Amino acid sequence: MEFKELVKARRSCRSFDTSALTDDQLNAILEAGQWAPSPLNLQPWQFIIVTDPEIKAGIKAIAEEARQGVVDQGGPGWVNKYPMDFIAEAPVLIVVVVDPAKGGLGTFFGQQYGALSASCACVQNMMLAAADMGLGSLWLTFFDPEKLRDLLDIPANLEVTGVLPIGKPKGEMEAPPRKPPKVHQQRFTKSN
Ligand SMILES: Cc1cc2nc3c(=O)[nH]c(=O)nc-3n(C[C@H](O)[C@H](O)[C@H](O)COP(=O)(O)O)c2cc1C
Repeated sequence: MEFKELVKARRSCRSFDTSALTDDQLNAILEAGQWAPSPLNLQPWQFIIVTDPEIKAGIKAIAEEARQGVVDQGGPGWVNKYPMDFIAEAPVLIVVVVDPAKGGLGTFFGQQYGALSASCACVQNMMLAAADMGLGSLWLTFFDPEKLRDLLDIPANLEVTGVLPIGKPKGEMEAPPRKPPKVHQQRFTKSN
């Protein structure tokens, strides 16, 4: 797909067909992630591929618990209706974890997010690769990462960047509108 078309074709997908991804599709997505930029090219991310229905159900339960937590704390009413079925429906969940210690030279200047930023670039590359193959994906963060850590045996030194359900989209995906870019000329101007 042509690039300009691709960036707009990638949509957050919250309804999936259960048909499996091929190994080639999954490998192409992981390879795209691997080509993301990272401080000192440390490639600080790792992937946990979840296809086991029981583990997917466990992740769904953790997300449902998070949703209930938000509702109990008086969060917005629509949260109660946020569907979680897609977590179990998606044929694969790629859980992206990152080592925050691999932040590169920015860490000498108090920058704490180099590794996390790199893992975000990795996620975006993977979502674009999925879109390029006609697959839907979502960057899901609606869960308590500590519960996910326990479920998936994620070591204490790693952080969770997100869970990416990926699969063939079911139905239309909504395209939320974009605002015009906020741009400053030469220096930051407060009036903008
Ligand atoms: C860091 C991050 C976390 C997100 N977490 C969630 C999430 O937990 N659940 C969800 O449905 N969407 C989540 N999203 C998706 C956004 O809601 C979505 O990107 C935004 O509404 C724009 O829609 P689009 O992705 O289709 O362009 C997340 C996106 C990002 C970048």
